[in-house]
Amino acid sequence: MEQLSTQRYAIDGTPFGEAPYGEAPFGEAPFGEATSALAPNLTPNVHWQSVEIDKLARAKLKAQRPAALWLTGLSGAGKSTIANLVEQKLHAMGRHTYLLDGDNVRHGLCKDLGFSAADRSENIRRAGEVARLMVDAGLIAIVAFISPFRAEREAARRLFEAGEFVEIFVDTPLAVAEARDPKGLYKKARRGELKNLTGIDSPYDTPESPELRIDTTRLTPEDAADGVVAYLRANGLLRVA
Ligand SMILES: Nc1ncnc2c1ncn2[C@@H]1O[C@H](COP(=O)(O)OP(=O)(O)OP(=O)(O)O)[C@@H](O)[C@H]1O
Ligand SMILES: [Mg+2]
Repeated sequence: MEQLSTQRYAIDGTPFGEAPYGEAPFGEAPFGEATSALAPNLTPNVHWQSVEIDKLARAKLKAQRPAALWLTGLSGAGKSTIANLVEQKLHAMGRHTYLLDGDNVRHGLCKDLGFSAADRSENIRRAGEVARLMVDAGLIAIVAFISPFRAEREAARRLFEAGEFVEIFVDTPLAVAEARDPKGLYKKARRGELKNLTGIDSPYDTPESPELRIDTTRLTPEDAADGVVAYLRANGLLRVA
């Protein structure tokens, strides 16, 4: 790939030279450490800025309907496995997607968060907001997070327009997920070496009315992913925007 120049230019064409941009223009973060989902909105002087190119325009350019496919379930349930297959199938159909995988997002955006109830809530709040931005960008965002709390899943749902948010319950009983234990987390938890593991010593609120429920004890990952694509087709989410 061609090497891009790293030289900085001002918009009048004058090079900034080799010096870095320097300090952030606003100095210290003005809003303190309000990271919790329960924290008040501390931005009373920040107004919504309207922009001309909107979601529909971006979606039209991509010729697709934006949506958030939200996979929830226990660790080891199969969220990442199925989400990966769904993304591959949509990609092969020419759809613009992005897979937000809980583990990967915890390597960056959410690396400051642990597994307490408050941190899990904040983790889901951020996932929801990022997915919303991606949907606003015209993408099909696939979110594979345990997302154990019903309240946070419902809060995420409220960020989207009707029909845009597809909650997919990857339904795997604890005993089955524990037998799979692809990351060895259940073994660690049973040995007392891992705290706050969902299903062991941290709760999981079973979805009451997800758009889609996948019983992974009866379906292969491939069949499950086909089922998700079939759901999207049947509900008009694969139509051209
Ligand atoms: N029917 C099935 N559907 C999905 N995964 C299955 C199925 N049968 C077996 N598996 C296996 O179960 C494991 C599921 O692991 P996966 O990492 O996808 O879970 P996860 O829900 O993403 O967990 P975590 O929340 O810890 O990231 C994989 O090793 C997968 O191959
Ligand atoms: Mg996963």
